[in-house]
Amino acid sequence: MREISTVGVIGLGTMGAGIVEVFARGGLQVVGVETTQEYAEHGRAILQGSTDRAVAKGRLDEAGQAEILGRITISTELGDLKDCDLVVEAVPEVLSLKHEVFGKLDDIVDAGAVLASNTSSLSITEIAAPTRHPERVLGLHFFNPAPVLKLVEVITTLRTDAAVRDAVVAVADKLGKKPVVVGDRAGFVANYLLFGYFTSALRMLEHGHVSREDLDTAMRVGAGLPMGPCTLMDLVGLDVCDHIGEVIYAHTRSQMHAPSPMLGRMVTSGLLGRKSGRGFYTYA
Ligand code: CAA
Repeated sequence: MREISTVGVIGLGTMGAGIVEVFARGGLQVVGVETTQEYAEHGRAILQGSTDRAVAKGRLDEAGQAEILGRITISTELGDLKDCDLVVEAVPEVLSLKHEVFGKLDDIVDAGAVLASNTSSLSITEIAAPTRHPERVLGLHFFNPAPVLKLVEVITTLRTDAAVRDAVVAVADKLGKKPVVVGDRAGFVANYLLFGYFTSALRMLEHGHVSREDLDTAMRVGAGLPMGPCTLMDLVGLDVCDHIGEVIYAHTRSQMHAPSPMLGRMVTSGLLGRKSGRGFYTYA
């Protein structure tokens, strides 16, 4: 395996932009690709805002910020990924969109490049289906906020080459992340357990067993978690939570993941969490 020094990231939403920042902070060259100029500018603004915050807090000086941003190229052309050693796809969680991307990548990057998906729940085996080289495909799953949380799940399929897995584990280590290698099952490890916990919390709210504030306090103060489940679902996005929960349930039929009618109603009403200004809580 060649060394990974240039990385492509497709999709510059919250997760994609966070992943770009992680690689650029780690000293790698990064090419971020979006579909339109408007989305590309939005991604650039996320990166600017996040590094501005770090400067304001004294965690980064202006020269350091310029260096990080200087390693990032933003484009609307997938063809600009041609020199990448690793490409991480972070487009919306729709299998047909992922297939479109992976179908094109074979003809863009060269034979030695690794292809990864940051999917939260979809099957890596299915995502890899349109490529001619499934042995170079794996999952590389970051957690929100990606610049802060250390865990990355490296998800291998039956076809993933061991050398590809090892190269990606090595680059994650180099970035200061904590990689864990897991198999390709719905929700992988962390989301399988986390979303079972979310569903249990939602059931308690549906049954009027506890208020959202007390539920959050119980888990934050009592279980030592940084956030209670309602605050965390608001951070992840209630639409994202609903979708991930449905995918895990569709694949496992585990009652622990049976969809919550209340969550579905909130999403239909446009209450999506922090990003829409209101979810379980209201945000300024
Ligand atoms: N981007 C970059 N940096 C951020 C950030 C962001 N979005 N949000 C917070 N930070 C940084 C802050 O700047 C701060 O840095 P310094 O300490 O160096 O100044 C640090 O993180 C801590 O932030 P705050 O002081 O503002 O607040 P906090 O201590 O409450 O931490 C938190 C915020 C990191 C989000 C913390 O509450 C936390 O870890 N929450 C749990 C998050 C979690 O469980 N995420 C997993 C979600 S599931 C998932 O992502 C999987 C999936 O597939 C959907």
